[in-house]
Formats: sequence, C-alpha cells, structure tokens
Amino acid sequence: MIDFWRFILSVFAVLGGQWGDEGKGKVVDFLSEKADIVARFSGGNNAGHTVINDKGEFKLHLVPSGIFWPNIKVVIGNGTVVDPDGLLQEIDALTEAGIDLRGRLVVSDRAHIVMPYHRALDVLSEKAKGDNAIGTTGKGIGPAYTDKVARIGIRLGDLFQKELLASRLKEVLKYHNAIIENVYGSEPVSFEDILEKCKLWADRLTEYIGSVEHIVFDAITENKNVLIEGAQGALLDLDHGTYPYVTSSHPTIGGACTGLGILHDQIDVVLGVFKAYSTRVGSGPFVTELHGGVGDEIRNLANEFGTTTGRPRRVGWFDSVAARYSARVNGYTSLLLTRLDVLDGFDSIKVCTYYELDGKKVTDFPGNASLLERCKPVYEDVPGWDLPTAGATNISQLPKEALRYIKMIEELVGKPIDIISTGPHRTETIVVRDIVRF
Ligand code: IMP
Repeated sequence: MIDFWRFILSVFAVLGGQWGDEGKGKVVDFLSEKADIVARFSGGNNAGHTVINDKGEFKLHLVPSGIFWPNIKVVIGNGTVVDPDGLLQEIDALTEAGIDLRGRLVVSDRAHIVMPYHRALDVLSEKAKGDNAIGTTGKGIGPAYTDKVARIGIRLGDLFQKELLASRLKEVLKYHNAIIENVYGSEPVSFEDILEKCKLWADRLTEYIGSVEHIVFDAITENKNVLIEGAQGALLDLDHGTYPYVTSSHPTIGGACTGLGILHDQIDVVLGVFKAYSTRVGSGPFVTELHGGVGDEIRNLANEFGTTTGRPRRVGWFDSVAARYSARVNGYTSLLLTRLDVLDGFDSIKVCTYYELDGKKVTDFPGNASLLERCKPVYEDVPGWDLPTAGATNISQLPKEALRYIKMIEELVGKPIDIISTGPHRTETIVVRDIVRF
C-alpha cells in the first residue's frame, strides 16, 4: 500500500457532496490518524455519524469523529449550534466507553445554544406547515440559527455572564412564548426551568468551552495538521442547496472559513465525499429518486435509515448533474467514494448524466426547487459486477466493471476519486492516490 502519511500538509477539509449521510464519520475517523486537530464548523446535533472501530460502534451527533485517536484535540467551532443536553449525553457515553475527553474537546464560546424553546418551535412550525413541511430533524436547528441572525441568540460563553444571561433570556422568552402560545396555541416554556438548566450546563461544560478560533488559527500557523469535518452536505446548504428544503447552516467550504475563523487560503485539500448512489432525508426535490423496487433493495441492503431520527432515507441513483454543481460550489481537489460495496451484485447500475426539462437538455443544476422538481433524469446504464468489492483495500481487487463505474463518475464530475470506502471499518478503505500529506 502507498505510504499514505508521507508528506506534511496542514489543513484538509472533508465535505459532504450530496444531501448528507455520505459516510463522512468513517472517513474522518480513518483520515484523522495523523491529524493534530479535528474541527466541526457548522450544524448541530441534526447531524449523525456512525463510527465503527476497535472500541465499538458509536453514534456521534456533535463530537467530531476524530475523538477516537487518543492524541487528537477535537473542536466544535463558532459556526455550529450546540444543544448542551445532547453534547453532555455524548460526553457521558464516550467517557463511559473509556475515551477521555478532558483537555481534548473544546467547544467555541461563540457557538450558539440550541435551547428547549428552539426544539419546541421547530416541531410546532413543521406541524403548522402540514404538507409543505421541510422534514427537519426536529432538533431546533433552524430556530437556533434564526435567533443568531436576528441577534437574539444566546451563546455558550453567555452561560458565564449570569445576570446578563437572565435578563436576555427573559426578553427572548417573552418573544418566543408569545409565538408559542398565540400562533401555535401551545404551552409556554418556563423561564425558571431554562435558567436552572443554564446553571447546570455552565457547571458541567465549563472545562470544555474555550476560544476555538484561536486554537485552530494558532495550530495552522504552527503547521500542525487540521482536519475539518463537514456535517450535512452541499445540497443542504442554506444558500447553495435546494432552498427551502435545506438546513439552516453552510456545510460548504465558505462555511468552514466563517465557522472556524480561518482563511480561505489556509485550506490545502478539499475532499468531496459522495456515496456511490444518492440518498436524501426529509422533503425536497430529488431527481434520481427510486420509488420502490431497487430503491427499497438499496435502502435495506445499506440500512439507509437516519442516524439522528431513524427515518427511512429516500434512495436514488448517482446524480452527476448535482455532483458537478457540488464540485463547483466547494472546489473539490479530489473525491472520496463511499458505499461502493452496496452496489455489489446488481446486474446493471444507472448514472444520471443530464436532466430533461420541458423537452430541453439541462446540464446545470437548477437553482430553484420547483424547477428541479420538474426535471427528469436521463440515465446511462453501466454493467454491474458479480465479484464483491466489500472489504477491498487495494484498487487491484476491484472488478473491471466497478473500475469502469468509478471512471465514469470521475469523468462526469471532472475530479479524481482518490479514496474509496468499501465497508464501515477503518481498514475497509482503498487509497488510490496519496492526497493526504500529513
Ligand atoms: P434541520 O437541519 O433539522 O433543520 O433539517 C433540515 C433538512 O436537512 C431536513 O431535510 C433534514 O432531513 C436535513 N438534514 C439535516 N441534517 C442532516 C444530516 O446530517 N443528514 C442528512 N440530512 C440532514
């Protein structure tokens, strides 16, 4: 195998290329070995990573997947929103599994808190939307980011400004409770209960809250290796995704800069992670979606159910129109293909090469969800393969039909696939080209 860790490189971003759930958790766990810092920059506990390694199987929502390598510091940046109860649950579960987080986990004091009223508002507003619901995770992410933009959010650092916190909380609750009661006809949230929770969070989280921006910036300046761990995917980006069926943050490369306080020219490698097919959770356009039949087969084979909500994921063929757009938005330097093994044993596989809309060929991903809803996929059939790719660790082990499929995706997206994941374990990985020069 190529000596993967041969060179020095400082900053490496791993971003979701589709609608999230591309298998970034495993990838980051694998790539983190030689990193000094692994950093999350956006989203909250709407994300869900499953990591399987020698310590067991873990479902992480907030804590970056690099936590399993003992010498690595993991940080959660200012661009994220943090539900302190969710974070504490993860800290407790990891501690119980024998993973020491003290001095290794730092959460930005500028990250906004997802409060219980955000979760209530998320669920109530989705219910009120009826058929037009976004299909959010119900974790309060949208309302927490809404407060941030409206400049009424409460940040983790505010937990330690006790008097100011109480007065701001009172103000913001007056506003939110008016909406909860008068617009949604639901029960108000208690100021006293939340203030009590804030005291507990301050006590328990104090050792984990710090200035992440300084830690990351200093590490980069000192030529340390920083792995930036994306959550969600490019097509869920608030600006660049399939609005309004998006999340409320920026899982794209620009979000990495603002969400960690780093400079664009400090990022050396941008790795786009793509599944060998497509999935999406929640509502919104999905041109290559498969209804029943092969879609159900892939869902069951690959256990495509949400890590955070348990919802069945919608499944479809690989969409090269969307992938090319994602590559444009993120400027990938290379791609990483996951879950190739799921397609083992299929007679034939389809790849969407372009769309048709009102009889016209569409090669650019439309910026409008209602146009996208009307696009029809045009597929090219690719022969499947009989031999398993599952567990392969070298490109020479792949059947020629699988290699052809990989080459086709590279050509359609215009970027090289430098790493291939062939199973959930760290070792089930093929390094085609040693792009990670830690
Ligand atoms: P929210 O982020 O909970 O507001 O949900 C908005 C949309 O993003 C919904 O369609 C969710 O299903 C989707 N979403 C949010 N986080 C993830 C994720 O980690 N993976 C896949 N979809 C996600």
